[in-house]
Amino acid sequence: MRGPSNGSDDRDRSVIEEQIAYYDARALEYDETGVPQPDPVAQHGQRLRDELRAFEPRGDVLEIACGTGKWTALLAEFADRVTALDSSPRMLERNREKVAGDRVRHVLADVFSWEPDAAYDVVFFAFWLSHVPPDRFDAFWEFVHRSLGSGGRVFFVDEGRHEHWFEEPLPDDDNPSLVLRRLSDGSTHRAVKVFWAPEELQARLAKLGWSITVQGEGPFYWGTGGRRADA
Ligand SMILES: C[S@@+](CC[C@H](N)C(=O)[O-])C[C@H]1O[C@@H](n2cnc3c(N)ncnc32)[C@H](O)[C@@H]1O
Repeated sequence: MRGPSNGSDDRDRSVIEEQIAYYDARALEYDETGVPQPDPVAQHGQRLRDELRAFEPRGDVLEIACGTGKWTALLAEFADRVTALDSSPRMLERNREKVAGDRVRHVLADVFSWEPDAAYDVVFFAFWLSHVPPDRFDAFWEFVHRSLGSGGRVFFVDEGRHEHWFEEPLPDDDNPSLVLRRLSDGSTHRAVKVFWAPEELQARLAKLGWSITVQGEGPFYWGTGGRRADA
């Protein structure tokens, strides 16, 4: 069974694989270098966490691209069970160190080749949607749909375009959704980065049958909702 690929061809497969390898290499420095210190947008990050608490992610929760666990622990405060999925063994290792316990299940998988194994009450992802290639956007949301049980809810957070830190464009590349990322060892890697504007994202999701409100918060946005009853 296929996960949320674009279904027609796998032209962007090499970028997906590069992005997976990049994050695995970055896992050891992710928590230290993810945000400039002192964090210029700390209060906005705090607001996102407050919104997630107010949302109360209860029941069986799927966290896509869980990373080192910056959000997994908060999910586990509410959930009966968290399935924390990531394609990076090293990210998962760090996540396990932070968030242990039998209510958290760690799954090593490429989300573009994985099929949901339960009808989840909540699907959550943080700073992941911007890494979904534009050609795979619709298929990714079909995957989210297949992951949710009846009445299931979605919560996501990510960053929009902003001036606090910048993405290095790829030289000589005409694909605007690709950026160049550098690790502290000087190595460079290609990654996908799509900067959605909240209103544009909300409208696109409505066309796909979702009733999701997307709201900006400083450089970030968060979205919450579920399938439209008539979809
Ligand atoms: C920007 S980080 C976000 C991590 C975490 N959600 C957070 O907010 O700190 C992106 C994460 O996506 C994971 N990832 C990249 N490609 C993936 C894929 N194809 N399937 C699953 N996870 C992937 C990376 O390993 C990394 O942990």
